[in-house]
Amino acid sequence: MSPLIEIKDLSYAYPDGNLALENVSLEVEEGDCIGLIGPNGAGKSTLLLHMNGILHGNNQILIEGMEITPETICQVREKVALVFQDPEHQLFMPSVYEDVAFGPVNMGWSKDKVNWQVDLALQEVDMLSAKHRSSHHLSFGEKKRISLATVLSMKPKILVLDEPSSNLDPKHRWELIDLLKNLNITKLIATHDLELVSILCNKVAILNRGLLKAFGPASEILSNKDLLVSYDLAKP
Ligand SMILES: Nc1ncnc2c1ncn2[C@@H]1O[C@H](COP(=O)(O)OP(=O)(O)OP(=O)(O)O)[C@@H](O)[C@H]1O
Ligand SMILES: [Mg+2]
Repeated sequence: MSPLIEIKDLSYAYPDGNLALENVSLEVEEGDCIGLIGPNGAGKSTLLLHMNGILHGNNQILIEGMEITPETICQVREKVALVFQDPEHQLFMPSVYEDVAFGPVNMGWSKDKVNWQVDLALQEVDMLSAKHRSSHHLSFGEKKRISLATVLSMKPKILVLDEPSSNLDPKHRWELIDLLKNLNITKLIATHDLELVSILCNKVAILNRGLLKAFGPASEILSNKDLLVSYDLAKP
């Protein structure tokens, strides 16, 4: 059986010439929860932006065997939901309701189904009471939670999250961990929150300066202190 996501020898340079990814190969199996870790500037966000075609390096990414191309991009985006590191990039509608309904409306779902999914997603992130507020007037942590709701409402097959726990207060960080733990779908999570990784992830990938330095079982990688220290992921 082919992997759910296959990243083959992916390199990407930003227009200014900055080489952010270099020959990265990674396979994600159905049901995996992969923790993508690495120091600031390692290339984590750049890699995630390739997962649903926002960036396209050398097109070496297959989703369920399907290459990401202009023709397949809509299909890919129905399967792969990405939450940006910065919620300002995720929220663009006048109200929370419209932001969270945006995906479901585009999937062509009925009004009842859209409303049902929006309420469910907002409940999951404990933001139902903000449904009719403007996303732009929320706190940063609240925006992070609404950003997650905008993809939960679409019932994706693959969830790609960039720093989902940053800026969350302790209560909502734990609620996020519980929510993700109970969400039985494939996940790829870039984060500096190693506790979250140890609770949720079965595999861990370490990126450093655009290179994949390690990929393997979470228990093995997280217990290798020398490895973590060498990539600024633990205190010496
Ligand atoms: N728009 C851009 N133009 C040029 N270079 C960029 C751009 N965005 C990111 N980079 C560079 O690409 C490299 C990888 O950045 P990226 O944001 O993917 O790192 P990251 O691992 O997500 O870091 P962080 O932990 O800080 O979120 C860095 O050297 C960064 O400066
Ligand atoms: Mg990042």
